[in-house]
Amino acid sequence: MSKQVHQFFENLWQDYIQRTPSADKVHQVLGQGHSIINDHVAFRTFNLAPVNLEALTKIIESMGYFANGDYEFTEKKLRAKHFEHADPSLPKVFVSELLVEEFSPEVQDIIQRMVTGIDATHVTEPAFLYSGTHWDITYAEYQQLLAESEYAAWMSAFGFCANHFTVSVNALPGYSTLESVNAKLKDAGFTLNSSGGEIKGSPEVYLEQSSTMADHAEVRFKDKAARIPSCFYEFAKRYELAPGKLYTGFVAASADKIFESTHSK
Ligand code: NI
Repeated sequence: MSKQVHQFFENLWQDYIQRTPSADKVHQVLGQGHSIINDHVAFRTFNLAPVNLEALTKIIESMGYFANGDYEFTEKKLRAKHFEHADPSLPKVFVSELLVEEFSPEVQDIIQRMVTGIDATHVTEPAFLYSGTHWDITYAEYQQLLAESEYAAWMSAFGFCANHFTVSVNALPGYSTLESVNAKLKDAGFTLNSSGGEIKGSPEVYLEQSSTMADHAEVRFKDKAARIPSCFYEFAKRYELAPGKLYTGFVAASADKIFESTHSK
């Protein structure tokens, strides 16, 4: 099982770096040739069958993960769950879903058309999580989604893939603070997401997070190609709840700002 799960993350990473070329540079800058331990990876979806959070939960649980936290993002109209694995070398998994019924009939209609063609039998394999888009939409439809939800627009362009990987600062040799990681990244020319401050969270909530602003990738829509924000890299430092026991959850107020890493500047 564990070998298959490690292979899943290798495949997911190879898919991710195709549209996030700066991720490899992050590894060079921070890892200096050593391997990097990831704290978590994040996926996005819609709360519509056959691709809702419940369906993705089954895939993730099939790899030995268990759910260990529920989150709500009222303003962005999202809910989320996080999953952990008994093997601590494996990243946690964070999955959010958009509450489609809370948007205009026009946006609901576009999203409904995107997902109706998906064969539910494909939404059982781990490889579904890096299967990309299963639909064709026009650039105007992308813009229509963007006007109401950056998240919906991002999903329409990229579909199922890792939205971000997250360096575990706790497991990163040579760095004891998130500030020092951020300083190194900025020195290397990266732009950090400053929504809500560069560092989201604090030791008081047992988790500090920061992230780069997303790379840009060329996406071929039905009628034209456009360069739009793709995926980003996140950095997380966790604090102990009790001696030897790091906090494993997520802080909704911080995650709310991290979502904005795929906004256009
Ligand atoms: Ni994250």
